[in-house]
Amino acid sequence: MTLSDLAAEAARQFKLTYGHPPRWIVAAPGRVNVIGEHTDYNDGFVLPMAIERYVVMAADLAAEGGVAIYDVEFKQTAWIDVSKPVTKGEPKWSNYLRGVMAGFQRRGEKIPGLAVVLLSTVPLGGGLSSSAALEVCTATLLEAATGKTMDPVAKALLAQQAEHEFAGVPCGIMDQFISVMGREGHLLLLDCRTRKTELVPMSDPAVELLIINTNVKHELGSGEYAKRRAECEAAARILSVPSLRDATASQLESCRGKMEGVVYRRARHVIGEIERTVHAAEGVRASNWTGVGQLMYASHASLRDDYEVSCSELDAVVDIAEGLGLPGGVYGCRMTGGGFGGCAVALVKAGQVADITQKIATAYQAKTGRAATIFSSRPAAGAAILQG
Ligand code: GLA
Repeated sequence: MTLSDLAAEAARQFKLTYGHPPRWIVAAPGRVNVIGEHTDYNDGFVLPMAIERYVVMAADLAAEGGVAIYDVEFKQTAWIDVSKPVTKGEPKWSNYLRGVMAGFQRRGEKIPGLAVVLLSTVPLGGGLSSSAALEVCTATLLEAATGKTMDPVAKALLAQQAEHEFAGVPCGIMDQFISVMGREGHLLLLDCRTRKTELVPMSDPAVELLIINTNVKHELGSGEYAKRRAECEAAARILSVPSLRDATASQLESCRGKMEGVVYRRARHVIGEIERTVHAAEGVRASNWTGVGQLMYASHASLRDDYEVSCSELDAVVDIAEGLGLPGGVYGCRMTGGGFGGCAVALVKAGQVADITQKIATAYQAKTGRAATIFSSRPAAGAAILQG
């Protein structure tokens, strides 16, 4: 569904639910990370793009004191009391919205009463940042409804804080930044230390990014994510650097004897991945697709063996893609996002998308007994007020 189809559907659903057309329609995209995994909370680089999958909200003012949100997919309404500081509550998914509302209140903003309809085409638990899209969409709606536009960095940080405090995931800044700052036809090279962003054009019609959802749900709240973060911090302490961004591979080698094997491997992944990300951005600029593809494979191997955040289904997808290789139209493939399930991303020749999709789907089913969901996306624009 295109964004304008989705907006029209949100307006239709709003009218069905509340009896009149909406005043505002806002949207925020999900994302896929091309490379730079588990580097954001180590002050490193990431290279994500927004995808043509969105959370959309249609809304209008309503009685003061409360925000009602009807989720079209869950057929469920959440009601949030905004007459006092917003707290965690039920249903669970409402916490992403609650966290953002609490952040707005902390900035001294009064949240008006609202009637909202929520629609999403970002698969849940698929590692495509459905939660960041929901948070950023909520922030965008509050911007529209209060008439106060936020600075994009402040907006992304507010959404990240909602994730930390209301969803309990100590995530980095990548997902919320790309959902706010994505640009059509571009990847976003983000320096997570300085928060400086650079748009990297990716409009070569000869290549496409395929997103392969293993349909294994990923669950970052489970504690593994926080564990990796703590291991990276432990490595930085041993290396006497503020963060792994400041360490080199040779520094790490010289301290190898001072750290547990697992801490060493975590650090090796991060240090290597930061370097690969910078090189990949150069590769994209130069349309050096073979080079970018090799970096993607190397990233996957490192996430699988050193960082241990892959799973057998993600490995199966990457093995199948690598097996097709250049003659089969595949430049590179890797898991994307937090890991433990979710999606892989493959850089492929545009003319062979249909053939590659069919081959990966068949081989994945044979290897794992599961059905994959495969789609392609061009780099999309970040969050926007579409109406109102
Ligand atoms: C999740 C987090 C991000 C990032 C990735 C791994 O998506 O939300 O901040 O750490 O995992 O790169």
